[in-house]
Parts: sequence; C-alpha cells; structure tokens
Amino acid sequence: MTYADIYSKSMNEAEAFWMDVSKNIDWFKKPSRALFDERPPFFEWFKDSEVNCCWNAVDRHVLEGNGERIAIIYDSPVTGTKRKISYSELQTNVAALAGGLKSKGVSVGDRVLIYMPMVPEALEAMLACSRLGAIHSVVFGGFAANELATRINDSEPKAIITGSCGIEVDRIIAYKPLLDEAINLATFKPEFCVVLQREQHRATMKSGRDFDWVDFKGFGAPTACVPVNGDHPLYILYTSGTTGEPKGVVRPTAGHLVSLHWTMKNIYNVKPGDVYWAASDVGWVVGHSYIVYAPLLNGNTTVLFEGKPVGTPDAGTFWRVIEEYQVKVLFTAPTAFRAIKRNDPTGFLAKKYNMKSLQSLFLAGERADPDTVAWAKNILQVPIVDHWWQTETGSPIVANPLGIEELPFKIGSPSVAMPGWDVQILDSNGQKVKPNELGSVVIKLPLPPGSLSTLWNAEERYLKSYLSTFPGFYETGDSGYVDEGGYLYIMARTDDVINVAGHRLSTGAIEEVLSAHPDVGECAVIGVSDDLKGQVPLGLLCLNTGSGRLHSDVVVEVIQNVRNQIGPVAAFKVACVVERLPKTRSGKILRSTMVAIADGKDYKIPATIDDPDILSEIAVELRKVGYSQ
Ligand code: COA
Ligand code: AMP
Repeated sequence: MTYADIYSKSMNEAEAFWMDVSKNIDWFKKPSRALFDERPPFFEWFKDSEVNCCWNAVDRHVLEGNGERIAIIYDSPVTGTKRKISYSELQTNVAALAGGLKSKGVSVGDRVLIYMPMVPEALEAMLACSRLGAIHSVVFGGFAANELATRINDSEPKAIITGSCGIEVDRIIAYKPLLDEAINLATFKPEFCVVLQREQHRATMKSGRDFDWVDFKGFGAPTACVPVNGDHPLYILYTSGTTGEPKGVVRPTAGHLVSLHWTMKNIYNVKPGDVYWAASDVGWVVGHSYIVYAPLLNGNTTVLFEGKPVGTPDAGTFWRVIEEYQVKVLFTAPTAFRAIKRNDPTGFLAKKYNMKSLQSLFLAGERADPDTVAWAKNILQVPIVDHWWQTETGSPIVANPLGIEELPFKIGSPSVAMPGWDVQILDSNGQKVKPNELGSVVIKLPLPPGSLSTLWNAEERYLKSYLSTFPGFYETGDSGYVDEGGYLYIMARTDDVINVAGHRLSTGAIEEVLSAHPDVGECAVIGVSDDLKGQVPLGLLCLNTGSGRLHSDVVVEVIQNVRNQIGPVAAFKVACVVERLPKTRSGKILRSTMVAIADGKDYKIPATIDDPDILSEIAVELRKVGYSQ
C-alpha cells in the first residue's frame, strides 16, 4: 500500500485502521473497539483493553525466544564504560526492581518520580514502574531543585528513584543534594527514595528514607507484569507552557503502545533486531518514546549514549558509535549536528569511520535549518528526515514514512501528516486558509492514539491550553502553512515557548525568576537566534526607580538566579538593563519586535506602539551585549 492509501484509510475508516494496527500488541484482554468518544472533547483509545507496557517491551521478547538479543547498548564516553544488556537480563533486572517497589507498597496508579542520568538503570526504573502499573514521571537532570520540587508537588510521588550523580563533559553533577533540597522545598514528601550509587561520586543517604539501589532490588520477590486498563496513564511528563507552572502531559498506555509500535516499521523502517539510536535524553519525550519504549516494543537494540556530540572526546564520537554498533537509524536534534559541524566543518573525522550500516538520519525537536540538513546529507549520504512532533503527541505528527515509501523531500518541510493526524491551518477566526497561507497549525479532534489524554491534575488547563481557541481542534502552538501537495512548513511558535538546543523552555518561567529579583521592576525574556542552539533566552530588565545598584551586578545575579531556580538547561547567559520596554498602547510588551531587533532583521514599527523611540534605545542596549548587529 502507498502512503496515500494508508493515510486515507486512517482518516476514512479510522476504527478499522487502528483495530488492525492494534494486533501488533500483545494484550491481556483485547480491546472491543478502538475509539471511545462518549465524552468529547476527551477521547480515549482501546479503553476497555487490558495491557502492560513492560510486558510488550521486555517479557514478550523473552517468551518468544529472543531473550539473548541485545536490548540496550550503553555507551558512556564520559565514564569510559560500554555495556550490553540482553532482553533476558533486562527482564531479570526490571522484575527485581519492581519487586522492591512492590514490597514498599508501590502499586497501580502510584506515582514514582525518576531523576536519573543516562544510565541503563534509568530505563530499568521506567520499565519497573510500568511493570507495576505505577505512573512514572522522569525529570531531566539539567533542572534545578526548585523545578524538581514543583514536579514533586504536582505529581505527589510515593517514591523517587535517583542516581548519585550525572556527568557533564567536564564536571560531575551531584544529583542527591539537588534532590534533598527539592524534597525540603516541596510541600509533598515522598515515602522513600532509591539511590543508584555511581562510583564517580557517592551520595550521602538519609537513613530510613533512602535505600541503595543494589539492596533495594533484593527487598521483594521478582514481580510479574500487572495488567492495566487501556486508558491507564503510563507516565506524566512535564513540559513548558506559557507560565512558570509546567504542564504534566498524561500519556495513556494502550494508544501509546499501538502508535509507537506502528512508527518503528512505517516511519523509521527498522525491523526487530536492528540497532536504533536516539541521541537525546530520557528526560525528554524523544527519550521516552525513542530511547526506551518504541525500540523495545519493536524488539530493537536501543543505544543509550551518555555523552555529547562534541567534547566526549571529539566531534567524531557519533560516527564511532554508528560504526561500532552498526547503527541503522540515528535520531537527534539539529543542534547536535550544528555542534559537530562547527567543530569539524569539513567532516574530516567522519572519514575515519565506516558508516555503511546507517540507512537514515531523523531530526526533530526544533526547526531543521537547510544548511545543517545539507551538511548532514553530504557527510552521511543517507536520507535526512526532518519530522515534527511535540511532547503532547508522543510520536511524529508529520514525517516522511520511509518504511512505507520514501516521498520526495522538500527543503524546509518535515513532509506530510502521518495516519490519524488531520493537520489543518486556520486563521485567527478559525477559518481554514488556502494552501501556502500562514496560520495556526491545528489538528482536528479526535487526536490519534498515543496523544495526551489530559494534563495531570489540571483538566481545565488542558481544555484552556489546547482545545478552547479553535473548538473541535487541538491547538499545537506552532504557526505554519501547508503547500498544494500537503507538505507542512513550521514557521514559529504562537506562544512564548522557545526552543534552546532542542529543549523546550518557557520565557514566562524565566521572567518569573527575573521579576522576583528585588531590584527588577519589570522585565521581558525573548528567544534570540543562536548559531548553535537555534535559540537562546535573552533578558531585558527595567530596574526599580532609585535601585542604585550597578547594572552589571544585577545582571550577574539574575543569571545566577535562573541557573539556581530553573537549572543550567535554561542556558540563560545574557541580560541587559534598559530604561523602558516597548509596549502597545494597551500595555502589551512587544516581544516579537525586540526579537527582530536583536536578530538584526527588518521589522515594521507596530501601529499600536505606545512610543516608537523606545525601539532605538533597545537596539543600543542589545548591541552592547552582542546583538542587533
Ligand atoms: N544534567 C545537568 N546539567 C546538564 C544536563 C544534565 N543532564 N544536560 C545539560 N546540562 C547543562 C550543560 O552542562 C550546560 O551547562 P553550562 O551552562 O554550565 O555549560 C547547560 O545545561 C546547557 O546544556 P545544553 O543546552 O545541552 O548545552 P551544551 O553546551 O552542554 O550542549 C549540545 C549543546 C548541542 C551539544 C547539546 O544540547 C546536544 O547534544 N543537544 C542535542 C540532543 C538533545 O539533547 N536533544 C533534545 C531533544 S531531541
Ligand atoms: P517538544 O514538546 O519539546 O518536543 O517541543 C515541541 C515543539 O518543538 C514544537 O511545537 C515545535 O515548535 C518544535 N519542533 C519540534 N519538531 C520540529 C520540527 N521538525 N520542525 C520545527 N519545529 C519543531
């Protein structure tokens, strides 16, 4: 069947299409139907089924005689470690950890927060939770204690699983003090913590509350997979919204299994046993879906890489991993390739490795700029597939489905809608626009299986954030257009979310930290272009009258505050003091005009501006910090 046939079936005969696809999953109780639409705009998929994610990702393969196959290749240039873990070993490890959790009372529906570096035990922790039907919430290691505390308060975890440290290129990050501080800050307290002691740095334990990972695995008997209902949340993953409060995306189990499994063959074109590598982090959605669940569901070998594209030890490290493990598909963010390109523009290091095993490179998380795509194509000589998706959707919305057929590539476009995704472009009145006209990118409800079902503890916010602007549609927060051939082009966000090195951040959250500084009266944070990271945040501060402080001191302090309160991942390194901020007559700060000024682009003076002279003042200050050139 062609892509067009498959897509059309998913739209016109959705029920039959998804029931057919669902046969790839091993159910404890098969679903009687695919879509449950009794409670619009809430839609559920395979709700009356019983299933277990860990069973499908691990045990099933062992039962089918593939226990000796390698499930995880752990390659850690930062510690000099390489390890291969078979599906059988993974099953043993996960069942033991789940046994420990069960012995301490963790059961279906309990939340478990996971704050771990890129080690195999992070995957084991996620799988142990899903084995028990406990809902995991993984928090990325680059977040500070305060962000961790917010997530503890919202998800109310019975347990927290952590590692003693993470390792960045040149330094060890002790995780445990951050966790202890977060637990102190949080109003909700977990019952216990499990700590993986790494030899690079051992954590101090709190007696009675903290358990050593190794001992903990012996606490209970190895535990079998617990069937859960199809709509049971597999996990909560927090992502940036328009305020400082992160949104807890809830991922329903059955739909996610069905859609993820489908993508492996049809989009990524891999078969069981192939080596698949998503160079991301388990703390992000790409890591959840494509380091952990999808490759394991499909019986692939997943590469878990604890390092960076450059500096561990050099810009040839990705090529070394591809050669050493015969990687078939690599998936990463464009920023990783920009980093490699910057260090090794001629691709000298790539020539040292045999990368014949590689059949394609997939990029997502931010706009894939044509220069980087062309450079990657030149070095790798394989299809470079940009594809577009979000934490909320859990898998690609728009892609080039190489496993069905390789569609023509168009520069700047992630290609076409995947099955079940009815992508449309609407104007501000909610009317469909013509091909090539810019508008809000929306998706007609119901969203296909695997998409978020709601926001944790925040149903109203779910409705308001995604479903209220355009009734009957999910608002993606991206703007763009679709050409005559159905190819989508993503242009920008319509909200204050920015993309820093493929990481999604809220400028609103950074503004909240800046405003809390005693000398800051008013502020704005904008996302300015960056050659490496795509965008970086830049702060504009108006100090309180009579503050009297040295501007440079305040700047240093707010930068440190963001690092302490949000974390190094915010990459907030530039701020300047300005007299006034440009605003509309109704008082709205003109952020996009300031972005254009900072990026040195042409811009129109908005008709609604209160005082146009402010713009030249802003340009002067931005020039002093290296922007607006
Ligand atoms: N724990 C603690 N700190 C972390 C961290 C973690 N897990 N991950 C990143 N950080 C820190 C970094 O050390 C850096 O600190 P610094 O300000 O002291 O230098 C800061 O957070 C910003 O990190 P990052 O934006 O990743 O910048 P970087 O310079 O370390 O690396 C890239 C830049 C491009 C190499 C890196 O971002 C990358 O490989 N990105 C592509 C893959 C990816 O992660 N994609 C995400 C979704 S697909
Ligand atoms: P996240 O939820 O972190 O995956 O971020 C999702 C957002 O990243 C999207 O809404 C887009 O703004 C951006 N994004 C992701 N993939 C792409 C892509 N292929 N092209 C352009 N933007 C992308």
